Amino acid sequence: MGKIKQSKDTTGLRGVRAGNTAICTVGVEGVGLLYRGYSIEDLASKSTFEEVTYLLLNGELPTKKQLDEWKQKLKEGRYLPETIKEILDKFPTDAHPMDVLRTGVSALGLIEPEEEGDTGFNAAVRILGILPSILGYWYLKSQGKEVPLDSDEETFAGYVMHMITGRKPTDLERQMMNVSLILYAEHEFNASTFTARVCASTLSDFHSCITAAIGTLKGPLHGGANEKAYYLISSFNDPEEAIKGIKEKLAKKEKIMGFGHAVYAERDPRNAIIKEWARKLSEEKGDMKLYEISEAIEKTMWEEKRLFANLDFYSATAYHMAGIETRMFTPIFVLSRSSGWAAHIIEQRQNNKLIRPLANYVGPEERPYVPIEERGE
Ligand code: COA
Repeated sequence: MGKIKQSKDTTGLRGVRAGNTAICTVGVEGVGLLYRGYSIEDLASKSTFEEVTYLLLNGELPTKKQLDEWKQKLKEGRYLPETIKEILDKFPTDAHPMDVLRTGVSALGLIEPEEEGDTGFNAAVRILGILPSILGYWYLKSQGKEVPLDSDEETFAGYVMHMITGRKPTDLERQMMNVSLILYAEHEFNASTFTARVCASTLSDFHSCITAAIGTLKGPLHGGANEKAYYLISSFNDPEEAIKGIKEKLAKKEKIMGFGHAVYAERDPRNAIIKEWARKLSEEKGDMKLYEISEAIEKTMWEEKRLFANLDFYSATAYHMAGIETRMFTPIFVLSRSSGWAAHIIEQRQNNKLIRPLANYVGPEERPYVPIEERGE
């Protein structure tokens, strides 16, 4: 299993262990990516997103009865109150859906504030359940389409697909979304999770923690990379053009979205899994163009820079081949990662210490105050 990067420079907190967690390991040599001790490979091939969210929040896989109850709670959480609908109706139709989710969760925190004494668990289930409804309601309605709030999709993945495309998914699309949600669910102290923990460490409320995390995930160096990766891949007409184009970009020192990682040194274990689903969906649709261009980019990036594709890269192809609009790519990450954020907020609260690091001061030495009359023009 892959190595992790070694760094003497701690800028950006690289290489710094900023706390303890029992939720997830990232890139531990010989171990790889584990959620609560279970490998990402096992979870992605054998379980459902509902089981994984239960595992992340409770520490153990659910029994059949526990899973049934959990699924029911998540389904009840789909309910969209009228006030939230009215707020969503007022958002610009050309807003970025990440902004819609961020403000939607913030609004939910006003309308249904976290109950006194909640460990965070009840708020977590409600937020997980409602996020696809918030996203789909605003997105489909802003295009004048029917919103399937009464969807009979039983699974979380099926409901997500229905709400973000407005149509019932195929079996393969539903399965891909289930796997993708599992892969995106948790990743230790990544930037958005760390944000959520910093916010939780001040003893702020659950909705504030999730709102802050969504804002952090939006950036192209983090969750926004899957959307940007699609724009890159689709800008090429064929693999030859892609190879040439990527070499030119690298020569100009441009960053290629969907490549590299702050922790993994050799490979992202999630890449092989989502790549396989991107291939299956491309085959189902009988259109291999995007997949072949993606492979050409992956090969070129490795040969030229020894940089490997991360989860975001083939997610772009997999989502596009499932008929998902590009603006929805990063929001899907939110619908999934909320489970990881929730587990971390709860864990932070259980053994809280205010997160407050030191800075290396690099500013001027102490100097005398200059009165305004003496400062010149
Ligand atoms: N494309 C081109 N060059 C890249 C690159 C990319 N995607 N990722 C890293 N590099 C380059 C850096 O510019 C740097 O070059 P330099 O030494 O000449 O300055 C070198 O590789 C080492 O970078 P590194 O320090 O390992 O990266 P990091 O830890 O600072 O950053 C990321 C990690 C994820 C922020 C970075 O790889 C990146 O921006 N990737 C693209 C965005 C992305 O896919 N994000 C999702 C992450 S899951």
